[in-house]
Amino acid sequence: MKVQVDRRDGLTAAADITASGVFERPEKDDTFPRTLQKEDEATRGLIKAAWARKEVKGKRKELTVFHRPDGKGRIALIGLGPHAKYTPDVVRRAAAEVVRGFKGKGARTVAFRLGSFVVDNVRSEAAVAALTDGAILGNYEFQKYKSTSEGGVEDASIHLGEEFSRDEAALKKIVNDQATIDDVVVWTRDIANLPADTASPERLAEEAVALGKEFGLKVSVFDEKKLAEMGCGGILAVGSGSSGHPPRMVVLEYPGGARRGRTVAVVGKGITFDSGGISIKPAMSMQEMKFDKSGAVAVLGILRAAATLKVPPRVIGVMCCAENVPSGTSYRPGDVVRSFNGKTIEVINTDAEGRVVLSDGLGYVVKQYRPDEVIDLATLTGAQVVSLGDDTAGLVSNDEKLAQGLLLASAATGEPVWHMPLTDYHRELVKSEIADVRNSTEIAVAGMLTAAAFLETFVGTTPWAHLDIAGPAYTTAKTRKYQPAYQNIGATAFGVRLVTRYLETAPPRG
Ligand code: BES
Ligand code: ZN
Ligand code: ZN
Repeated sequence: MKVQVDRRDGLTAAADITASGVFERPEKDDTFPRTLQKEDEATRGLIKAAWARKEVKGKRKELTVFHRPDGKGRIALIGLGPHAKYTPDVVRRAAAEVVRGFKGKGARTVAFRLGSFVVDNVRSEAAVAALTDGAILGNYEFQKYKSTSEGGVEDASIHLGEEFSRDEAALKKIVNDQATIDDVVVWTRDIANLPADTASPERLAEEAVALGKEFGLKVSVFDEKKLAEMGCGGILAVGSGSSGHPPRMVVLEYPGGARRGRTVAVVGKGITFDSGGISIKPAMSMQEMKFDKSGAVAVLGILRAAATLKVPPRVIGVMCCAENVPSGTSYRPGDVVRSFNGKTIEVINTDAEGRVVLSDGLGYVVKQYRPDEVIDLATLTGAQVVSLGDDTAGLVSNDEKLAQGLLLASAATGEPVWHMPLTDYHRELVKSEIADVRNSTEIAVAGMLTAAAFLETFVGTTPWAHLDIAGPAYTTAKTRKYQPAYQNIGATAFGVRLVTRYLETAPPRG
């Protein structure tokens, strides 16, 4: 989808849909909103009449459609909820509601009237970014396997009108920058949505190689032979049950923008299918485990965004890819495997495989690149979903500055993150009787945090942040209805906007 800035008033643009925001009306105040005066004139009073009969309440998600008597398309009013709770994220959701609301309804163009969204604390800069974000992400659908399409909105425009036309150049730049990152999110979702028969570790490696070619990035692919030479016993063990889809570790290098110096490593869990292995999962919902590669695919997206936007730091991406399936050659509960950094892992449960593949990726990137910071993204634990739900990622870190930087980026992008603690109690729980660490604890407590304590073993003292994205990485038909309209069913590419923002804005360490 294309998003453009237009200095004309939206009502004169003759788009199929002209969209404006409407706030929830206060209890005892029936005054017709001043911001909708022109919309009302264009409908020759239909909107005022609807307001008077309380058809339009301004509640969030409420979409009311008026057909213009002059035949120049339709006017849509999208509810923004109460003034007191108005934020850029409300705008993002509203834009997504509008484009989704017109799927299969014969509308190809949407014109947003900016004036109705620039209210209270939401300035024009934030509003245009949020409209762009919501429109592009809300319009996304994974089309690859559909033989027919309902047809939807193809182009959106944001109309400045007289009020904002003098800021045109600045607002255009904001919209273009936002569209650039959103296009990367769409690209990432298309890969993350591929099922496991297609998106094998080899295929993910091919995607990385193709990305490298497109942007001139160095990409190294380590196959099972090379992984054995390197001593990556974790990835090899997890991938050992698969026939036909052998494991891969992929390293991508973006050299950094103008100011060199800082290196940030981004490491992702890339389990192309997580059946649980010998510790097999129940059949119910197992199909969702094609999304267990979301962390590694987010790393691809982050590298694409870094190279497109030319972020200041050098960025090293590591994708730890394997298929976790049971067979006669699978790794077993009770096995002890040696990770890249020499530490040994007692396998208690083959379904706790994410931390096992990440151990190699983290150990490798820390030793090989000595990064200033490491961020990992992983659909790591069911415990994350239980404790924070499927919208909010868990953040665990050994470095306050890095954690704060990610929280700021989270607030700016609207990808929710919650900072969780990591203590010696969690570290104690992952100690093994016979090896350095165990991959699953004896008592089932704080599963997200014991997983993080396990990972910490492999980063040493390097500043590190772990994002457990098990919940927010994807939505299903069931969870989708509770999520904002910009998260369609399937992969969300959670983390791409968040980490990219961090890379763009975080000050150098020192
Ligand atoms: N891939 C799963 C975690 C997951 C659960 C992701 C739900 C997305 C949605 C992970 O590999 C896993 O199975 N973790 C186990 C660990 C346990 C055996 C220690 C879990 O969380 O139950
Ligand atoms: Zn698992
Ligand atoms: Zn998994």
